[in-house]
Amino acid sequence: MARTVPSLPPLSPHSHSKLSCNRHSLTQYSSTNIKEQGSQPLSQETVKELIKQSQEAKKHAYCRYSKFRVGAALLTNENRVFTGCNVENACYNLGICAERTAIAKAVSEGYITFKAIAIASDVSEKFITPCGGCRQFMREFGSDWDVYLSKPDGSCLKMTVDELLPVSFGPEDLYMEKTSASLSLPQEILLWSNTATIGQNCYAF
Ligand code: THU
Repeated sequence: MARTVPSLPPLSPHSHSKLSCNRHSLTQYSSTNIKEQGSQPLSQETVKELIKQSQEAKKHAYCRYSKFRVGAALLTNENRVFTGCNVENACYNLGICAERTAIAKAVSEGYITFKAIAIASDVSEKFITPCGGCRQFMREFGSDWDVYLSKPDGSCLKMTVDELLPVSFGPEDLYMEKTSASLSLPQEILLWSNTATIGQNCYAF
């Protein structure tokens, strides 16, 4: 008996155009600038603007499997804003969250210090909260910066990365003093690295 393959909903014309078009010329940054004086706390206007941009980014969510749209807007110390949305995949576990998209965009353009990130979803009953993986991803870039959890009406709850992920593990932990026992490599690895040679398709220049 022939099996029927369930068809997926077609991509919206909007997402088609997003996939094929290149909005930014090569010389442009994929970020916008925001007017912000000095350091913390952010002005109300800035918070509103960040939330607005996260809601805009949410419109681009590629979430054909979960139908759960998320947008994020990340403010760098230089007052640049990088936005992101969730990008899902037919191989489900390869999907990426909105927060990580925004952070990866910023880092890949040389920005690694952040003031705040705003997160938007369509859930109106509670403020959207980042998943555990995103909390750890944010924490990589410090614990003392702000996360604005929002609702579709624009209301928000401010938390720090540290509040979202207390007693966290970060880059500094890798450089903490270790016992000498932890420094020695297992015998098999030592053996392997001593005998490894350059293979047929491997070139050393
Ligand atoms: N998602 C985010 O993008 N950010 C969050 O903070 C929570 C969850 C995405 C992942 C997935 O594409 C969809 O929402 C459902 O989990």
